[in-house]
Amino acid sequence: MKALTLNGYDGLASLRFDEVSTPMPGPNDLLVKVNAASVNPVDTKIAHGYGGPSAQRSLPHVLGRDSAGTVEKVGSAVTGFKVGDEVYGVADPARWGTFAEYVIMPAATTAERPAGLSDIEAGSIPIAGLSAWAGIVTAGQLQRGQRVLIHAGAGGVGTFAVQLAKNIGATVAATASGKNAEFVRSLGADHVIDYTKEDFSTAIKDVDLVFDLIGGDVRFRSFPVLKSGGVITHISVPPMTQPPPRSDVEVRPAQVKYDTALLDQIGALVKSKAVRPVVSEVFAFADALKAFQHVMTGHARGKVMLDMTR
Ligand SMILES: NC(=O)c1ccc[n+]([C@@H]2O[C@H](COP(=O)([O-])OP(=O)(O)OC[C@H]3O[C@@H](n4cnc5c(N)ncnc54)[C@H](OP(=O)(O)O)[C@@H]3O)[C@@H](O)[C@H]2O)c1
Repeated sequence: MKALTLNGYDGLASLRFDEVSTPMPGPNDLLVKVNAASVNPVDTKIAHGYGGPSAQRSLPHVLGRDSAGTVEKVGSAVTGFKVGDEVYGVADPARWGTFAEYVIMPAATTAERPAGLSDIEAGSIPIAGLSAWAGIVTAGQLQRGQRVLIHAGAGGVGTFAVQLAKNIGATVAATASGKNAEFVRSLGADHVIDYTKEDFSTAIKDVDLVFDLIGGDVRFRSFPVLKSGGVITHISVPPMTQPPPRSDVEVRPAQVKYDTALLDQIGALVKSKAVRPVVSEVFAFADALKAFQHVMTGHARGKVMLDMTR
């Protein structure tokens, strides 16, 4: 099969298209023909050696976590899927990923593609949607009537987080640059703070939850906006370099859970139109490096997708 292989950790220079053997599914796996895959920041970070030796894979490796496609083979112990099913989900990072014609998907992290969604739309959901769920729902425990501030509301995770928070019934503030303010409002944000012009740390107060998708100094400057007892959740973004300036608020890492049941829950919200996937750019698989470059700007809007059929 054709695959984009990672052959070192020098960024884009380490990626090339190759012919490789199609992997065989184990008993609990599906072999999926990949129709759409998304490029997540983590793919670009791994290609640059981010995470040190523990994040390094045996090379060559195939990156890519999200996919939408068609089941081609079903592992002997799998129930609930059959050949020809249209699915979407998350590949196992320890094995080859979705930037290839075929991928092995664990059945436990795969779900039926929500009716009415294209492969491109469905493939944009898993990592970003499940990460937003972790930050807002599981770790954030956001409740109707509460106030939330979401950093990077225009990005892949942020676009889901803003919509999930609004659907819960919270008052939603988000940071974004001015060019994205109207867009983030259209997702349901009540208040968009243009971080390039305004200091968010004084623009808002009495917040119950901050979902931090930036980290470092942005997390440090988020403490003043919280009410006493408030919470900051974050996924793997750079840590603060300073000690926490307050002891009456909690910083809670969000553990992202990848499973079929959660994908079905998010799929149901998409089906009911409470949440919509936002895809800003679709690149042909042959142009995957351009997609990487776009994500690496740090200013992609919503999700950046690969059409694996082109
Ligand atoms: N499981 C995990 O651990 C996990 C999962 C998913 C993501 N992550 C991490 O979470 C972070 C966000 O992921 P993502 O997929 O949402 O990234 P992304 O889509 O690349 O985020 C891009 C967005 O960030 C916004 N942005 C950039 N700098 C900003 C700032 N200073 N303040 C506010 N917004 C800013 C940009 O908006 P403007 O163009 O308007 O500036 C852009 O829309 C990444 O570091 C990623 O690696 C971790």
